[in-house]
Amino acid sequence: MVTVRVPAKVNVQLGVGGVRPDGYHDLANVFFAVALGDEVTATPGDGVTLTCTGPDADAVPLDDSNLAARAARLLAAHHGLPDPGVHLHIAKAIPVAGGMAGGSADGAAALVACDTLWGLDTPLGTLLELAAELGSDVPFALLGGVALGRGRGEILEALPVTGTFHWVFAVADGGLSTPAVFRECDRLREESGSGATIQDVPTPDADPALLAALADGDPVALAAALSNDLQAAAVSLRPSLADTLHAGTEAGALAALVSGSGPTCAFLAKDADAAAHIAAALRASGTCRTAHATHGPVPGAQVVQTSA
Ligand code: C5P
Repeated sequence: MVTVRVPAKVNVQLGVGGVRPDGYHDLANVFFAVALGDEVTATPGDGVTLTCTGPDADAVPLDDSNLAARAARLLAAHHGLPDPGVHLHIAKAIPVAGGMAGGSADGAAALVACDTLWGLDTPLGTLLELAAELGSDVPFALLGGVALGRGRGEILEALPVTGTFHWVFAVADGGLSTPAVFRECDRLREESGSGATIQDVPTPDADPALLAALADGDPVALAAALSNDLQAAAVSLRPSLADTLHAGTEAGALAALVSGSGPTCAFLAKDADAAAHIAAALRASGTCRTAHATHGPVPGAQVVQTSA
């Protein structure tokens, strides 16, 4: 039996370029791994089977569309294993379809768990390539920490960061579809007359002020530099998110933004006490289903327990 712990992410910068001919968008995507995470346990099995527990377990698909199942099959195929033979149990804490890369996290965790269970010792570079085949956010869940993602988010460069930052995440009722939010971003750009293709929108770049704030461990400077080009699209599809963002700011957050494609909202706090206070205020505000105080950066998918 092998248990892997894997973090959720928040994008402290999500710069979205124009839509490419292949339908993806070039990104300047600064990923930040937070302690709010899932655990995936692999045990020997027949084929690939899945179970899931946690408050959102009913919303998690247990068929081959689940990235954890796809990861197990992809790793087995890569090594020419005729029968993958694994049962994967997901202990789910990351909001489902919430803009925190929970499905991607489970894919990354399954790669590491199966690699260990099957004794394959796959090099990290190969795992990162397999992860990129599974989805744009899966490689970062392997790496963790803080990293700049380019291309569609899968070309990663680890970034220097000092100390710990404190966050609160407000979980919404129901998810948002990532492709739908990207489409809404394109629609809003078309509507504003600026155009939405790579000819119209300059390729985004990492913000030097944001990189300096991370390297300096300065939450006030980071708060001033946070940005998410998908936020307007997420709020357009789910206008009530404006109330959630406002409630966290009223409760003393240094800054509020939509996490990735949403609908989870992220709040940066000055310290752990402030985060606990903001989380309690958000839970009482009636603008979200629940709220969690957490921190980061933390490492990527890691084996936390093995037993025979
Ligand atoms: O790579 P992944 O399967 O996670 O992406 C899900 C969807 O999000 C894509 O099909 C696409 O619609 C959108 N996307 C995008 N540009 C990116 C990443 C994702 O348009 N860089």
